[in-house]
Amino acid sequence: PTAQAVIVAIDGPAGTGKSSTSKAVATQLGLSYLDTGAQYRAITWWMVTNGIDIDDPTAIAAVTGKPEIVSGTDPAEPTITVDGVDVAGPIRTQEVSSKVSAVSAVPEVRARITELQRAVAAGAERGIVVEGRDIGTTVLPDADLKVFLTASPEARAARRSGELKGADINATREALVKRDAADSSRKTSPLAKADDAVEVDTTELTLAQVIECVVTLVEEKRAGK
Ligand code: DC
Repeated sequence: PTAQAVIVAIDGPAGTGKSSTSKAVATQLGLSYLDTGAQYRAITWWMVTNGIDIDDPTAIAAVTGKPEIVSGTDPAEPTITVDGVDVAGPIRTQEVSSKVSAVSAVPEVRARITELQRAVAAGAERGIVVEGRDIGTTVLPDADLKVFLTASPEARAARRSGELKGADINATREALVKRDAADSSRKTSPLAKADDAVEVDTTELTLAQVIECVVTLVEEKRAGK
């Protein structure tokens, strides 16, 4: 990265608007974008497709290095492939969503994916917005700006069921809360707010307001650099 390159870490649970916010901020500021949840979903998709027992961390650890996962970092058109296959659609299924927490809790999986993430960030000439769960705490602890997005479970479930078109809101809420609990309680780099992260509660904010807030925070950091 150049001296001007800015590294932005955006963490938080599901349904807080992380992806929409991160893509819009990256687009507005001319930065690259990396969706780290998509990488964990991609490796989970590969495990499921290859019949790996998701309840067996040893089995998962043994094959962690096999799939080649490549992320495209254009915020206007983020892509993700596994061994050259476009998996952008298949990684969003209920099946992958329900299994991704177990796969991403395996330390070998985290080590491998973290390495990929750091390589992508290091290669981003103009800087990058990286969204996930442990970016500010573990993946990029020296990020120029760390944002932690939160929202009430009700707001998060409402947003997610809107995305899933017609999904039952109570079932969506239950699945989200369950996934957050698993992501927050795992031993290796759990979902957590970094001490130096700026917390933004999005419950009462529109997406445009959240984007504006984060863009302002980045610009302030840049001005002070
Ligand atoms: O952001 P998402 O909902 O697509 O993420 C899917 C899962 O991946 C999430 O439930 C936990 C895991 N994940 C993680 O462990 N660490 C990250 N940095 C990003 C996602």
